[in-house]
Amino acid sequence: MTDEVQFPAGFLWGVATSAYQIEGAAALDGRTPSIWDEFCQRPGAIRDGSSGDVAVDHYHRFREDVALMADLGVTAYRFSVSWTRAVRPDGSVNPAGMDFYSRLVDELLGHGIQPWVTLYHWDLPAHLAGGWTARDTAYRFGEYAALTHRALGDRVATWTTLNEPWCSAFLGYGSGEHAPGRQDPGEALLAAHHLMLAHGLGVQALRSGGASQVGLTLNFTPVMAADPSQATDVEVARRVDGVANRLFADPVFHGRYPVDVIVDAGSLWPVGAIRDGDLALISQPIDVLGVNFYSSQAVTAAEHLILPSAHVTAGHADVVSRGLPRTAMGWEVDPDAFRDLLVRLHRDYAGPAGVGLVVTENGAAYADEQVIDGVVQDEDRIDYVRHHLRAAYAALAAGVDLRGYFLWSLIDNFEWAFGYSKKFGIVGVDEHLNRRPKLSARWFARVVSEGRV
Ligand code: FCB
Repeated sequence: MTDEVQFPAGFLWGVATSAYQIEGAAALDGRTPSIWDEFCQRPGAIRDGSSGDVAVDHYHRFREDVALMADLGVTAYRFSVSWTRAVRPDGSVNPAGMDFYSRLVDELLGHGIQPWVTLYHWDLPAHLAGGWTARDTAYRFGEYAALTHRALGDRVATWTTLNEPWCSAFLGYGSGEHAPGRQDPGEALLAAHHLMLAHGLGVQALRSGGASQVGLTLNFTPVMAADPSQATDVEVARRVDGVANRLFADPVFHGRYPVDVIVDAGSLWPVGAIRDGDLALISQPIDVLGVNFYSSQAVTAAEHLILPSAHVTAGHADVVSRGLPRTAMGWEVDPDAFRDLLVRLHRDYAGPAGVGLVVTENGAAYADEQVIDGVVQDEDRIDYVRHHLRAAYAALAAGVDLRGYFLWSLIDNFEWAFGYSKKFGIVGVDEHLNRRPKLSARWFARVVSEGRV
């Protein structure tokens, strides 16, 4: 095919997962409840009434899962540590729980796969009073980061503090779609600041432990005006972009929160919670910016529906369909926006700081209905990944310092508020939890081995 692209040698190829979505073993070996264990008990919180209690039982099947990764030929695996598995409520290490990650790391290294550890992928200890609205939670996170680094840092080079603080803050405390299910825009902003503070304290702890590669993963949703000739649409797009994207990238790279977001937030802005020195902590140098990308949005000024980001500042905004193809999540497929985003992040943030970009999540949910000889024929997922990889390559060719790509996800898993109803894996799981690689797994293995797509 003429439009095939060849990635440079040394480009990092990986797959990604997170603890609560795959591990199961929720009450084993001293693990205590997280806010997600509690949230799943709430009637109506999870679309199919499920939870991560068993998930795909990765806790017991991690060797098999690492073997699957080895079959894919990936050079790296991004996973998260469950805080309540690794550390006890009194703040001491839970040896049985931490040992799971130690064994996982050894298994990965034994297969030549680099472990990329994310410390926080949403499963906050339930016992931390106030959750992310409490400043103290950020300090507890710093301690947890230090302990985990002490246990695994001899073998793990790359550390990510947080995954997608926008989701933790705005879905967790704004719209209430995620744990802990709060619906209070002021709390969402407070949580956002404490999450960023936790990131800063995490970086500090990891650096003092000697970690060599430290970063943060943010989710970015490019936002455009539905009608660029309408000043009100342009204004709404700016506001939503401020909360969805700049609110998190600006403090890390520029050492300040975006002024327009502060102005828009008005009395909701948590001015009293932002103490002297916080932004210095938050803007400590990092080595890598993790970019999660799934979709973009066209927005218009509207009477009703308020986006989670807009809960806080944008007033009324609605998402307008652009007639693009959609995944099973209903998300519009827009690889051009992915390329433009990577260019923007390199230009506005990472490039000037000499920080590399790595795509830490990209992938798609589809219905997976076509099965031949027991193999899911997920051509739609293959197309999605192919087009996004080509978009990523276009960014690279335009000078973006893009170092790797992690596909979300290795395996079908607990998709948060959607339970098991949305499948993102390139490996499926049957009713006995047997692993079933899909057509996309075979395809991705070829991409990885040739570096070409
Ligand atoms: C991201 C999350 C990840 C997964 C994908 C589909 O927002 O980080 O856990 O749910 O979306």
